[in-house]
Amino acid sequence: KIIILDFGSQTTQLIGRRVRELGEYCEILPYNKFPYDDPSVIGVILSGSPFSVYDDKAFRTELDRLRGHLPVLGICYGAQFIAYTSGGSVEPAPSREYGRAHLTKIDTTSPLFKNIPVGSQVWMSHGDTITSIPEGFKTIASTDKVAIAAYQVEGEQTWGVQFHPEVYHSEHGTQLLRNFVVDICGGKQDWTAESFIESTVAQLKEQLGDDKVVLGLSGGVDSSVAAVLLNRAIGKNLTCIFVDHGMLRKNEFRNVLHDYECLGLNVVGVDASEKFFSELEGVTEPERKRKIIGKGFIDVFDAEAHKIKDVKWLAQGTIYPDCIESLSITGTTIKSHHNVGGLPEKMNLKLCEPLRLLFKDEVRAVGRQLGMPEHLIKRHPFPGPGLAVRILGDITPEKVRILQDADDIFIQGLRDWDLYDKVWQAGAILLPVQSVGVMGDERTYERAIALRAVTSTDAMTADWAHLPYDFMAKVSNDIINKVKGVNRVCYDISSKPPATIEWE
Ligand code: XMP
Repeated sequence: KIIILDFGSQTTQLIGRRVRELGEYCEILPYNKFPYDDPSVIGVILSGSPFSVYDDKAFRTELDRLRGHLPVLGICYGAQFIAYTSGGSVEPAPSREYGRAHLTKIDTTSPLFKNIPVGSQVWMSHGDTITSIPEGFKTIASTDKVAIAAYQVEGEQTWGVQFHPEVYHSEHGTQLLRNFVVDICGGKQDWTAESFIESTVAQLKEQLGDDKVVLGLSGGVDSSVAAVLLNRAIGKNLTCIFVDHGMLRKNEFRNVLHDYECLGLNVVGVDASEKFFSELEGVTEPERKRKIIGKGFIDVFDAEAHKIKDVKWLAQGTIYPDCIESLSITGTTIKSHHNVGGLPEKMNLKLCEPLRLLFKDEVRAVGRQLGMPEHLIKRHPFPGPGLAVRILGDITPEKVRILQDADDIFIQGLRDWDLYDKVWQAGAILLPVQSVGVMGDERTYERAIALRAVTSTDAMTADWAHLPYDFMAKVSNDIINKVKGVNRVCYDISSKPPATIEWE
């Protein structure tokens, strides 16, 4: 495997995903936690960082224990760090370099640049630049502005690149990573959905034996794939519980329950909407809504799970990005997303997380390989508290009905216009305002709906989706004509940051 040492860059996870896409297993670890004793490591990548190498607070790692022992590739800060600690100079660039650049010179004999043509576009994002490299270092690529865009340490498998090969805008970035991972490190590229399923099913059988396992389904991709994988390993010893808190999408509970049954899962559907509606009555504060729903979910789930005799394990669809130990650089919580936090402790069950090594796109690939239907696999992310955080202000069954109807028109429209798979996530939001309108000869004073659709790769950053005007006109018309109580539709054109995807 490849180890990616994280120095706090925004794109560290992207490096991990690119390496996995090459069929090579990798793990992301904090910069100071390299597993020196692990013989399966075949190479190391050092990520970028928000710090400058000469900052007092800059993250450092013991390079002499890596260099010369394993192939090392430094990206951005990683490259600067290797050069700087060997006596090179790194200085603030005259102007922060951000965006596209082209490699005007490349050492085409260098294995790192195999099959990468001169002129190839790369993505730069740095405030500092390497102004001189130490003796024994050799420049192997340059751009117009950056003389030392890439280097190799002579006689050593140690490399540095100033640009970011992991981002899509770096045209031959994947080729560069392949050159490093496969040619330089000797990666076997044997990490596939098929091999993952085979080894995980075997491990689960071994780990769980005849034990009973309970799993909470949400309708989302992760918990669904976890369930199907476990079902393959232990069959009827797995019981899935799907709780309807009353704030799912229109008909979602019924449809998804049906999907699960078709997949052969042993699933119990619990309609607990009344409990949730009564607990949420009059609550307007977003974090309180999340807490009430989180706790209510645990109560319902716990009661259901107790009906199963001798259950020993709680399975969850936790995926790799939730497990990566993050370096706390700012340390503020914007929203609390962990709806089921506290569940394992309360239930006194052992935890089984069969997807904890996978990135989202790998979860989808595994789901496909397991024969799950495409509409389950490609389903947009949906927040655990559901429409509760899309109804601004207090929640009533009537408001949920209005929002479900509007949301359904929007989502169905996206599907009909072939736009559903082009956006990361979409939904409607019920605003806590009324506005004046006119229908026929009548004055109306009704609610406003906001539509939100975003493009993203990981929900960390997002842009509003530039949906066609004709589509928006049709959806707006349909909502106002068909959903009683709504007379105005707006489209949210904020990016994240500074906005977030959900309104609450
Ligand atoms: P934000 O609004 O923080 O959302 O930009 C990022 C992603 O997280 C989802 N989200 C949630 N998911 N429980 C969840 O399970 C929550 O409380 C929650 N809040 C936001 C959101 O839908 C988006 O995909």
